[in-house]
Amino acid sequence: MKVTLFGTGYVGLVTGTCLAEMGNRVLCVDVDAGKVARLKNGEVPIFEPGLSPMVKRNFESGRLDFTTQAEPAVHHGEVIFIAVGTPPDEDGSADLRYVLEVARSIGQHLDRYAVVVNKSTVPVGTADKVRATIAQALAERGAVIPFDVVSNPEFLKEGDAVEDCLRPDRIVIGSSSERATQVLRKLYAPFNRNHDRTVVMDERSAELTKYAANAMLATKISFMNEIANIAERVGADVEQVRRGIGSDPRIGYHFIYPGCGYGGSCFPKDVQALERTARTVDYDARLLGAVEAVNHAQKGKLFELIERHYGGALKGKTVALWGLAFKPNTDDMREASSRRLMEQLWAAGAKVRAFDPEARAETTRIYGERADLTLCEDAYEALDGADVLAIVTEWKAFRAPDFARIRDVLKDPAVFDGRNLYDPAQVEDMGLAYYGIGRGR
Ligand code: UGA
Repeated sequence: MKVTLFGTGYVGLVTGTCLAEMGNRVLCVDVDAGKVARLKNGEVPIFEPGLSPMVKRNFESGRLDFTTQAEPAVHHGEVIFIAVGTPPDEDGSADLRYVLEVARSIGQHLDRYAVVVNKSTVPVGTADKVRATIAQALAERGAVIPFDVVSNPEFLKEGDAVEDCLRPDRIVIGSSSERATQVLRKLYAPFNRNHDRTVVMDERSAELTKYAANAMLATKISFMNEIANIAERVGADVEQVRRGIGSDPRIGYHFIYPGCGYGGSCFPKDVQALERTARTVDYDARLLGAVEAVNHAQKGKLFELIERHYGGALKGKTVALWGLAFKPNTDDMREASSRRLMEQLWAAGAKVRAFDPEARAETTRIYGERADLTLCEDAYEALDGADVLAIVTEWKAFRAPDFARIRDVLKDPAVFDGRNLYDPAQVEDMGLAYYGIGRGR
């Protein structure tokens, strides 16, 4: 099939590439000419396992192409995806400006029936707005061309995006048109080979499904962080509690890992946007507010522990930091817990020596060169001249470190484990002080 995708961010680029991989002819549009030129050159702007070779392969075979031109792109697609960003505006609600600009441009150039698919995470009611915007642009041209708007939210995780896209656990299609539903069923058939994972519903329910899924996952994390804070105070170990509750299949082991808070481009933004949506319909979403508040506090947890260790005297100290990205297998620093920790340490007069396998360039882009930040090429190099070590991101490479070496290099051998990667007794046996999240035993 011929597919157009507006937006070559995370969702757009991964979806477009996976659709091309399945044999479709995909044209991706982006307003950023530099980005389009780099993509045509085989340079993928994000770090995502497996994505680069797949982009290259499909581009070279002619199934995947990139352009800045909206008009030929609208003419190309039988299915036109909108996968542009919905950044939060000042009050936390999703800003639909880019989505509606694309809708307008579709209405200006549409020349035959097409299915317009909202892939961006958008507030409930956006499909109606997109439909009205396209209809208005068509009316301004005096054109009468049929089209449908469908909501098809994306559930991919950064770091596993290609895998999630090729093997989705569900494909949500929010549609009130049988014709459009059939077109999408055909497009997604190759992703559904063994059993049908399609869930068809109305557009508003599909839009809400996306927010509900992310809010549910964020709630599980904040809940566990709350239990961790209680565990710390009552002398229990949250890691044992985690295993104790996860064994109940109704609770499950997924997404109950306590830590120094959730980050990324989705959870913080989506929980906030859903809370705002609730407010617009006169509902006070107290649980969502609490999920956010717990997470905000949790991002300050490592600083709190380090500050307490030094009785508040952090000036002149150097903290080695392992992990900068908001989670492993990505270079994404959006809402990363490392940012809060570094900013708090700097404000207290401490220095940071940091290592992350992928996010060093992104850190420099955000903070520039500064005297109180040294980005190291290797995890152990970050320990040189440092007082203590804090772990913020659970990269696999940090899971089984050489504790003897850490102990010998640190001036004040103490590990602040923001992801509960280590067994406290094992670390202490090696002669290091251990601080984790919710490990009050
Ligand atoms: C999240 C969802 O998991 C995806 O299903 C969704 O499609 C995506 O948002 C989106 O809306 O686009 P992502 O933000 O890539 O995906 O990352 P996650 O793996 O969900 O992790 C989010 C944060 O939660 C990370 O900072 C991670 O460290 C933290 N986390 C995760 C915990 O603190 N504890 C856990 O048990 C799990």
